[in-house]
Amino acid sequence: MSVTHVSAPLPGPKGRVLLRKWHRFEANVVGFQAPVVWDHARGCVVTDVDGNTYLDWTCGVLVTSVGHCHPHLVAAAQRATARLLNNYECANVERIAAAERLVRALPPHLNQCFFLSTGSDATEAAARLLKRKSGKFEILSFECGFHGRTLHAASMGGLPGPKRGYGPTVPGVIRAAFPNPYRDPNGWCRGGPDFKKYFSYLDALVLANSTGSLGGVMVEPYQGAGGFIFPPRGWLKKLEEWIRRRGLLFALDEVQSSYGRTGRMWALEHEDLRPDIVAIGKAIGCGVPVSAVAATSAVFSALGPGELSSTLGGNPVASAAVSAVLDIYEREPLVANSARLGAYLKKRLKALAATCPYLGDVRGMGLVLGLEFVKDKRTKEPAPELIKPLIVDCANHGLLAGAVGMYGNVIRVAPPLVMTRAEADESLAIMAGALSRLKL
Ligand SMILES: Cc1ncc(COP(=O)(O)O)c(C=O)c1O
Repeated sequence: MSVTHVSAPLPGPKGRVLLRKWHRFEANVVGFQAPVVWDHARGCVVTDVDGNTYLDWTCGVLVTSVGHCHPHLVAAAQRATARLLNNYECANVERIAAAERLVRALPPHLNQCFFLSTGSDATEAAARLLKRKSGKFEILSFECGFHGRTLHAASMGGLPGPKRGYGPTVPGVIRAAFPNPYRDPNGWCRGGPDFKKYFSYLDALVLANSTGSLGGVMVEPYQGAGGFIFPPRGWLKKLEEWIRRRGLLFALDEVQSSYGRTGRMWALEHEDLRPDIVAIGKAIGCGVPVSAVAATSAVFSALGPGELSSTLGGNPVASAAVSAVLDIYEREPLVANSARLGAYLKKRLKALAATCPYLGDVRGMGLVLGLEFVKDKRTKEPAPELIKPLIVDCANHGLLAGAVGMYGNVIRVAPPLVMTRAEADESLAIMAGALSRLKL
Protein backbone atom coordinates (compact mmCIF):
# COMPACT_ATOMS: atom_id res chain seq x y z
CA MET A 1 0.00 0.00 0.00
CA SER A 2 1.39 3.39 -0.95
CA VAL A 3 2.06 5.94 1.77
CA THR A 4 1.93 8.98 -0.52
CA HIS A 5 -1.19 10.82 -1.52
CA VAL A 6 -1.31 14.27 -3.12
CA SER A 7 -4.26 16.27 -4.46
CA ALA A 8 -2.36 17.95 -7.28
CA PRO A 9 -1.63 20.54 -8.43
CA LEU A 10 0.25 22.01 -5.52
CA PRO A 11 0.01 24.16 -3.54
CA GLY A 12 -3.26 23.04 -1.97
CA PRO A 13 -5.81 25.64 -0.80
CA LYS A 14 -4.44 26.08 2.75
CA GLY A 15 -0.89 25.91 1.50
CA ARG A 16 -1.46 28.66 -1.07
CA VAL A 17 -2.78 31.10 1.56
CA LEU A 18 0.02 30.32 3.98
CA LEU A 19 2.79 30.63 1.36
CA ARG A 20 1.46 34.07 0.36
CA LYS A 21 1.49 35.17 3.99
CA TRP A 22 4.97 33.73 4.51
CA HIS A 23 6.46 35.62 1.59
CA ARG A 24 4.77 38.81 2.73
CA PHE A 25 6.27 38.72 6.22
CA GLU A 26 9.49 36.74 5.91
CA ALA A 27 11.97 37.74 3.23
CA ASN A 28 12.00 35.19 0.44
CA VAL A 29 15.75 34.77 0.19
CA VAL A 30 16.02 31.00 0.41
CA GLY A 31 16.65 28.62 -2.48
CA PHE A 32 13.81 27.15 -4.54
CA GLN A 33 11.63 24.60 -2.73
CA ALA A 34 8.50 22.66 -3.71
CA PRO A 35 5.34 24.72 -2.90
CA VAL A 36 4.51 22.66 0.18
CA VAL A 37 3.77 23.90 3.72
CA TRP A 38 4.90 21.13 6.05
CA ASP A 39 2.57 20.39 8.95
CA HIS A 40 4.00 17.29 10.60
CA ALA A 41 6.23 14.35 9.77
CA ARG A 42 7.09 10.92 11.11
CA GLY A 43 9.82 8.59 9.89
CA CYS A 44 10.16 9.23 6.13
CA VAL A 45 6.64 10.59 5.60
CA VAL A 46 5.80 14.30 5.59
CA THR A 47 2.22 15.59 5.80
CA ASP A 48 1.39 19.11 4.62
CA VAL A 49 -1.29 21.53 5.84
CA ASP A 50 -3.75 20.23 3.22
CA GLY A 51 -3.31 16.63 4.35
CA ASN A 52 -1.13 15.57 1.38
CA THR A 53 1.52 12.99 2.25
CA TYR A 54 4.99 12.72 0.73
CA LEU A 55 8.07 10.54 0.99
CA ASP A 56 11.06 12.61 1.98
CA TRP A 57 14.38 12.54 0.11
CA THR A 58 15.55 15.72 1.84
CA CYS A 59 15.68 15.16 5.63
CA GLY A 60 15.29 18.96 5.70
CA VAL A 61 18.82 19.21 4.44
CA LEU A 62 20.42 15.96 5.64
CA VAL A 63 19.33 16.62 9.22
CA THR A 64 16.67 14.17 10.41
CA SER A 65 18.66 10.97 9.91
CA VAL A 66 16.84 9.01 12.66
CA GLY A 67 13.55 9.80 10.91
CA HIS A 68 11.27 12.75 11.51
CA CYS A 69 10.13 13.19 15.11
CA HIS A 70 11.61 9.96 16.41
CA PRO A 71 9.62 9.30 19.62
CA HIS A 72 12.75 8.74 21.75
CA LEU A 73 14.23 12.06 20.64
CA VAL A 74 10.93 13.92 21.07
CA ALA A 75 10.46 12.55 24.60
CA ALA A 76 14.04 13.42 25.62
CA ALA A 77 13.74 16.98 24.27
CA GLN A 78 10.35 17.44 25.98
CA ARG A 79 11.70 16.22 29.32
CA ALA A 80 14.73 18.49 29.08
CA THR A 81 12.59 21.48 28.05
CA ALA A 82 10.42 21.14 31.14
CA ARG A 83 13.45 20.95 33.46
CA LEU A 84 15.96 23.58 32.31
CA LEU A 85 15.94 25.63 29.12
CA ASN A 86 19.19 27.55 29.31
CA ASN A 87 22.15 28.25 31.55
CA TYR A 88 24.80 29.62 29.13
CA GLU A 89 28.35 28.48 29.96
CA CYS A 90 27.54 26.94 33.30
CA ALA A 91 27.71 23.19 33.68
CA ASN A 92 24.48 21.26 33.35
CA VAL A 93 23.79 17.56 33.64
CA GLU A 94 22.66 17.13 30.04
CA ARG A 95 25.70 18.93 28.62
CA ILE A 96 28.16 16.82 30.57
CA ALA A 97 26.39 13.60 29.54
CA ALA A 98 26.27 14.68 25.88
CA ALA A 99 29.98 15.54 25.81
CA GLU A 100 30.88 12.11 27.16
CA ARG A 101 28.51 10.36 24.74
CA LEU A 102 29.80 12.26 21.70
CA VAL A 103 33.48 11.76 22.52
CA ARG A 104 32.91 8.04 23.10
CA ALA A 105 31.18 7.79 19.70
CA LEU A 106 34.13 9.48 17.94
CA PRO A 107 37.42 7.85 16.89
CA PRO A 108 39.53 7.60 20.09
CA HIS A 109 42.12 10.23 19.13
CA LEU A 110 39.39 12.92 19.01
CA ASN A 111 39.12 13.04 22.77
CA GLN A 112 37.36 16.37 23.38
CA CYS A 113 34.47 18.31 21.93
CA PHE A 114 32.74 21.65 22.31
CA PHE A 115 29.06 22.33 21.64
CA LEU A 116 27.73 25.12 19.45
CA SER A 117 24.46 25.64 17.58
CA THR A 118 24.95 25.58 13.80
CA GLY A 119 27.23 23.93 11.27
CA SER A 120 28.72 27.33 10.45
CA ASP A 121 29.53 27.82 14.15
CA ALA A 122 31.36 24.50 14.05
CA THR A 123 33.44 25.26 10.95
CA GLU A 124 34.25 28.77 12.23
CA ALA A 125 35.41 27.16 15.49
CA ALA A 126 37.43 24.62 13.50
CA ALA A 127 39.16 27.48 11.65
CA ARG A 128 39.85 29.24 14.95
CA LEU A 129 41.36 26.09 16.45
CA LEU A 130 43.45 25.51 13.34
CA LYS A 131 44.88 29.03 13.40
CA ARG A 132 45.46 29.19 17.15
CA LYS A 133 47.11 25.77 17.31
CA SER A 134 49.31 26.27 14.25
CA GLY A 135 50.04 29.93 14.97
CA LYS A 136 49.58 30.54 11.24
CA PHE A 137 46.86 32.37 9.39
CA GLU A 138 46.51 30.62 6.03
CA ILE A 139 44.07 27.77 5.39
CA LEU A 140 43.87 25.67 2.25
CA SER A 141 40.31 24.81 1.26
CA PHE A 142 38.54 23.83 -1.95
CA GLU A 143 36.68 25.34 -4.87
CA CYS A 144 33.05 24.21 -4.89
CA GLY A 145 33.28 23.50 -1.15
CA PHE A 146 30.74 24.67 1.40
CA HIS A 147 31.35 25.29 5.10
CA GLY A 148 28.51 27.70 5.96
CA ARG A 149 27.44 31.30 5.51
CA THR A 150 29.26 33.22 8.25
CA LEU A 151 32.23 35.17 6.95
CA HIS A 152 35.12 32.81 7.65
CA ALA A 153 33.04 29.77 6.73
CA ALA A 154 31.92 31.44 3.49
CA SER A 155 35.50 32.50 2.78
CA MET A 156 36.72 28.91 3.04
CA GLY A 157 33.89 27.83 0.76
CA GLY A 158 34.15 27.81 -2.99
CA LEU A 159 30.56 28.46 -4.06
CA PRO A 160 29.34 31.82 -5.34
CA GLY A 161 26.09 32.13 -3.28
CA PRO A 162 27.49 32.61 0.23
CA LYS A 163 30.19 35.08 -0.95
CA ARG A 164 28.49 37.18 -3.62
CA GLY A 165 28.71 40.90 -2.80
CA TYR A 166 30.00 40.05 0.67
CA GLY A 167 33.68 40.61 0.09
CA PRO A 168 36.41 41.07 0.79
CA THR A 169 36.62 37.52 2.03
CA VAL A 170 38.88 36.61 4.92
CA PRO A 171 42.52 36.95 3.85
CA GLY A 172 44.68 33.86 3.94
CA VAL A 173 42.31 31.37 2.33
CA ILE A 174 43.93 29.50 -0.56
CA ARG A 175 41.38 27.56 -2.60
CA ALA A 176 42.41 24.51 -4.60
CA ALA A 177 40.40 22.59 -7.19
CA PHE A 178 38.61 19.51 -5.84
CA PRO A 179 38.93 16.33 -7.91
CA ASN A 180 35.57 15.65 -9.55
CA PRO A 181 35.36 12.23 -11.24
CA TYR A 182 32.43 13.28 -13.45
CA ARG A 183 34.19 16.39 -14.73
CA ASP A 184 37.89 15.65 -14.83
CA PRO A 185 39.52 17.66 -17.65
CA ASN A 186 42.99 17.37 -16.06
CA GLY A 187 42.89 13.63 -15.49
CA TRP A 188 43.45 14.08 -11.72
CA CYS A 189 40.92 11.42 -10.76
CA ARG A 190 42.43 8.74 -12.95
CA GLY A 191 45.80 9.08 -11.24
CA GLY A 192 45.25 6.75 -8.27
CA PRO A 193 46.61 5.38 -6.05
CA ASP A 194 49.20 8.23 -5.86
CA PHE A 195 47.28 10.99 -7.65
CA LYS A 196 50.74 12.38 -8.57
CA LYS A 197 49.37 14.82 -11.12
CA TYR A 198 46.92 16.27 -8.62
CA PHE A 199 49.47 16.67 -5.84
CA SER A 200 52.01 18.29 -8.19
CA TYR A 201 49.27 20.80 -8.99
CA LEU A 202 48.65 21.33 -5.26
CA ASP A 203 52.37 21.86 -4.56
CA ALA A 204 52.56 24.46 -7.33
CA LEU A 205 49.40 26.21 -6.09
CA VAL A 206 50.77 26.54 -2.55
CA LEU A 207 54.18 27.63 -3.81
CA ALA A 208 52.60 30.40 -5.85
CA ASN A 209 49.96 31.56 -3.35
CA SER A 210 51.17 31.03 0.21
CA THR A 211 53.08 33.67 2.15
CA GLY A 212 54.64 30.85 4.13
CA SER A 213 51.98 30.94 6.81
CA LEU A 214 49.91 27.92 5.84
CA GLY A 215 48.51 26.33 9.01
CA GLY A 216 46.26 23.58 7.71
CA VAL A 217 43.61 22.25 5.41
CA MET A 218 39.81 22.33 5.68
CA VAL A 219 37.96 19.83 3.52
CA GLU A 220 34.62 18.00 3.28
CA PRO A 221 34.81 14.20 2.83
CA TYR A 222 32.54 14.78 -0.17
CA GLN A 223 31.35 18.16 -1.39
CA GLY A 224 27.76 18.48 -0.24
CA ALA A 225 26.31 21.80 -1.36
CA GLY A 226 28.84 21.77 -4.21
CA GLY A 227 26.85 18.96 -5.83
CA PHE A 228 27.44 15.74 -3.88
CA ILE A 229 30.88 15.41 -5.46
CA PHE A 230 32.76 12.37 -4.18
CA PRO A 231 36.53 12.46 -4.72
CA PRO A 232 38.12 9.30 -6.15
CA ARG A 233 38.74 6.59 -3.59
CA GLY A 234 42.10 7.01 -1.88
CA TRP A 235 42.44 10.72 -2.62
CA LEU A 236 41.51 11.84 0.91
CA LYS A 237 44.12 9.53 2.41
CA LYS A 238 46.73 10.96 0.03
CA LEU A 239 45.63 14.45 1.01
CA GLU A 240 46.12 13.51 4.66
CA GLU A 241 49.63 12.26 3.85
CA TRP A 242 50.36 15.52 2.00
CA ILE A 243 49.14 17.46 5.06
CA ARG A 244 51.34 15.42 7.41
CA ARG A 245 54.43 15.74 5.19
CA ARG A 246 54.10 19.50 5.45
CA GLY A 247 53.44 19.53 9.20
CA LEU A 248 49.98 21.06 8.72
CA LEU A 249 46.76 20.55 10.67
CA PHE A 250 43.90 18.57 9.15
CA ALA A 251 40.34 19.84 9.69
CA LEU A 252 37.51 17.71 8.30
CA ASP A 253 34.02 19.15 7.84
CA GLU A 254 31.67 16.29 8.71
CA VAL A 255 28.70 18.62 9.29
CA GLN A 256 26.63 16.70 6.75
CA SER A 257 28.62 13.51 6.10
CA SER A 258 28.52 12.06 9.62
CA TYR A 259 26.02 9.98 11.59
CA GLY A 260 25.83 7.16 9.07
CA ARG A 261 24.95 9.23 6.04
CA THR A 262 27.64 7.59 3.87
CA GLY A 263 27.10 4.09 5.27
CA ARG A 264 29.67 4.52 8.07
CA MET A 265 29.06 6.44 11.30
CA TRP A 266 31.76 8.95 10.30
CA ALA A 267 32.78 9.44 6.67
CA LEU A 268 36.40 9.50 7.84
CA GLU A 269 36.12 5.74 8.51
CA HIS A 270 36.05 4.88 4.80
CA GLU A 271 39.74 5.75 4.43
CA ASP A 272 40.77 5.55 8.06
CA LEU A 273 41.48 9.29 8.23
CA ARG A 274 42.84 10.86 11.42
CA PRO A 275 41.92 14.55 11.26
CA ASP A 276 43.03 16.85 14.08
CA ILE A 277 39.73 18.74 14.06
CA VAL A 278 36.22 17.65 12.98
CA ALA A 279 33.17 19.88 12.53
CA ILE A 280 29.84 18.16 13.27
CA GLY A 281 26.28 19.41 12.71
CA LYS A 282 22.92 18.51 11.20
CA ALA A 283 22.16 14.91 12.31
CA ILE A 284 23.88 15.40 15.68
CA GLY A 285 20.55 16.80 16.92
CA CYS A 286 18.31 15.45 14.13
CA GLY A 287 16.31 18.68 14.11
CA VAL A 288 17.13 20.16 17.52
CA PRO A 289 19.63 22.97 16.80
CA VAL A 290 23.07 21.81 17.93
CA SER A 291 26.53 21.38 16.48
CA ALA A 292 29.96 20.56 17.80
CA VAL A 293 33.62 20.79 17.05
CA ALA A 294 35.74 17.81 18.09
CA ALA A 295 39.51 17.69 18.27
CA THR A 296 42.44 16.28 20.14
CA SER A 297 42.97 17.81 23.57
CA ALA A 298 46.35 19.02 22.27
CA VAL A 299 44.49 21.17 19.73
CA PHE A 300 41.95 22.47 22.26
CA SER A 301 44.79 23.38 24.63
CA ALA A 302 45.72 26.19 22.21
CA LEU A 303 42.62 28.14 23.32
CA GLY A 304 42.44 30.22 26.45
CA PRO A 305 39.36 30.96 28.57
CA GLY A 306 36.57 32.71 26.68
CA GLU A 307 37.99 32.06 23.21
CA LEU A 308 35.20 29.68 22.21
CA SER A 309 31.69 30.18 23.46
CA SER A 310 28.17 30.84 22.32
CA THR A 311 24.88 31.85 23.96
CA LEU A 312 23.06 28.61 23.16
CA GLY A 313 25.94 26.14 22.76
CA GLY A 314 25.61 23.30 25.27
CA ASN A 315 22.02 24.29 25.96
CA PRO A 316 20.37 21.52 28.05
CA VAL A 317 17.68 20.75 25.45
CA ALA A 318 20.20 20.57 22.61
CA SER A 319 22.45 18.43 24.78
CA ALA A 320 19.62 16.05 25.65
CA ALA A 321 19.03 15.68 21.91
CA VAL A 322 22.68 14.76 21.32
CA SER A 323 22.42 11.91 23.83
CA ALA A 324 18.99 10.76 22.63
CA VAL A 325 20.16 10.64 19.00
CA LEU A 326 23.17 8.53 20.00
CA ASP A 327 20.84 6.20 21.96
CA ILE A 328 18.89 5.66 18.75
CA TYR A 329 22.06 4.90 16.78
CA GLU A 330 22.97 2.30 19.39
CA ARG A 331 19.55 0.64 19.26
CA GLU A 332 18.67 0.76 15.57
CA PRO A 333 20.65 -0.46 12.54
CA LEU A 334 20.62 2.96 10.89
CA VAL A 335 24.18 2.91 9.59
CA ALA A 336 23.83 -0.58 8.11
CA ASN A 337 20.53 0.41 6.50
CA SER A 338 22.19 3.48 5.00
CA ALA A 339 24.85 1.29 3.36
CA ARG A 340 22.42 -1.41 2.20
CA LEU A 341 19.50 0.73 1.04
CA GLY A 342 21.89 3.28 -0.46
CA ALA A 343 23.49 0.61 -2.66
CA TYR A 344 20.03 -0.55 -3.75
CA LEU A 345 18.83 2.99 -4.56
CA LYS A 346 22.03 3.75 -6.47
CA LYS A 347 21.67 0.63 -8.62
CA ARG A 348 18.04 1.41 -9.40
CA LEU A 349 18.81 5.08 -10.11
CA LYS A 350 21.67 4.14 -12.44
CA ALA A 351 19.22 1.96 -14.37
CA LEU A 352 16.86 4.94 -14.58
CA ALA A 353 19.71 7.15 -15.82
CA ALA A 354 20.14 4.86 -18.80
CA THR A 355 16.56 5.67 -19.85
CA CYS A 356 16.74 9.45 -19.30
CA PRO A 357 18.75 11.57 -21.78
CA TYR A 358 19.37 14.28 -19.14
CA LEU A 359 20.43 12.26 -16.10
CA GLY A 360 24.18 12.42 -16.69
CA ASP A 361 25.50 10.99 -13.44
CA VAL A 362 24.31 9.04 -10.40
CA ARG A 363 26.91 9.04 -7.62
CA GLY A 364 27.40 8.75 -3.91
CA MET A 365 27.57 6.23 -1.12
CA GLY A 366 25.13 5.19 1.57
CA LEU A 367 22.08 7.39 1.64
CA VAL A 368 23.69 10.43 0.07
CA LEU A 369 23.31 10.20 -3.68
CA GLY A 370 23.48 12.94 -6.28
CA LEU A 371 21.61 12.98 -9.59
CA GLU A 372 23.37 15.38 -11.97
CA PHE A 373 21.29 16.73 -14.85
CA VAL A 374 22.87 17.83 -18.12
CA LYS A 375 21.65 19.03 -21.50
CA ASP A 376 23.68 16.42 -23.31
CA LYS A 377 25.45 13.45 -21.78
CA ARG A 378 28.40 13.90 -24.14
CA THR A 379 29.11 17.60 -23.53
CA LYS A 380 27.93 17.42 -19.89
CA GLU A 381 26.64 20.98 -20.12
CA PRO A 382 24.71 21.57 -16.86
CA ALA A 383 20.90 21.74 -17.14
CA PRO A 384 19.72 23.73 -14.09
CA GLU A 385 16.48 24.64 -15.91
CA LEU A 386 15.29 21.05 -15.50
CA ILE A 387 15.50 21.13 -11.73
CA LYS A 388 12.49 23.31 -10.77
CA PRO A 389 10.01 21.42 -12.97
CA LEU A 390 11.42 18.13 -11.74
CA ILE A 391 11.10 19.09 -8.05
CA VAL A 392 7.54 20.34 -8.60
CA ASP A 393 6.53 17.24 -10.59
CA CYS A 394 7.98 14.96 -7.89
CA ALA A 395 6.11 16.88 -5.16
CA ASN A 396 2.86 16.70 -7.13
CA HIS A 397 3.25 12.92 -7.12
CA GLY A 398 4.34 12.57 -3.49
CA LEU A 399 8.14 12.88 -3.37
CA LEU A 400 10.04 15.75 -1.74
CA ALA A 401 13.45 16.42 -3.25
CA GLY A 402 15.88 19.35 -3.18
CA ALA A 403 18.75 20.58 -5.33
CA VAL A 404 22.42 21.40 -4.81
CA GLY A 405 25.48 22.07 -6.92
CA MET A 406 27.66 24.85 -8.25
CA TYR A 407 25.22 25.05 -11.18
CA GLY A 408 22.11 24.02 -9.20
CA ASN A 409 21.68 20.97 -11.44
CA VAL A 410 22.00 18.16 -8.91
CA ILE A 411 19.06 16.52 -7.14
CA ARG A 412 19.90 15.24 -3.69
CA VAL A 413 18.74 11.80 -2.66
CA ALA A 414 19.16 11.89 1.12
CA PRO A 415 16.22 10.29 2.92
CA PRO A 416 16.10 9.48 6.63
CA LEU A 417 18.24 6.42 7.37
CA VAL A 418 15.10 4.57 8.54
CA MET A 419 13.69 4.36 5.01
CA THR A 420 12.35 0.89 4.16
CA ARG A 421 12.72 -1.01 0.88
CA ALA A 422 9.00 -0.47 0.19
CA GLU A 423 9.33 3.29 0.74
CA ALA A 424 12.42 3.33 -1.46
CA ASP A 425 10.53 1.52 -4.24
CA GLU A 426 7.60 3.91 -3.98
CA SER A 427 9.89 6.94 -4.14
CA LEU A 428 11.78 5.46 -7.10
CA ALA A 429 8.52 4.92 -8.98
CA ILE A 430 7.64 8.60 -8.47
CA MET A 431 11.08 9.71 -9.68
CA ALA A 432 10.85 7.37 -12.69
CA GLY A 433 7.51 8.93 -13.67
CA ALA A 434 8.89 12.46 -13.29
CA LEU A 435 11.97 11.60 -15.37
CA SER A 436 9.80 10.20 -18.15
CA ARG A 437 7.96 13.55 -18.35
CA LEU A 438 11.13 15.68 -18.23
CA LYS A 439 11.71 17.90 -21.30
CA LEU A 440 14.27 20.57 -22.07
C1 LIG B 1 29.57 20.53 4.93
C2 LIG B 1 28.80 21.64 5.59
N1 LIG B 1 29.43 22.47 6.44
C3 LIG B 1 28.79 23.47 7.05
C4 LIG B 1 27.45 23.70 6.83
C5 LIG B 1 26.76 24.85 7.50
O1 LIG B 1 25.81 24.41 8.40
P1 LIG B 1 24.67 25.40 8.93
O2 LIG B 1 23.75 25.68 7.79
O3 LIG B 1 24.02 24.61 10.05
O4 LIG B 1 25.35 26.62 9.43
C6 LIG B 1 26.74 22.87 5.95
C7 LIG B 1 25.32 23.10 5.68
O5 LIG B 1 24.74 22.64 4.73
C8 LIG B 1 27.44 21.82 5.30
O6 LIG B 1 26.83 21.00 4.44
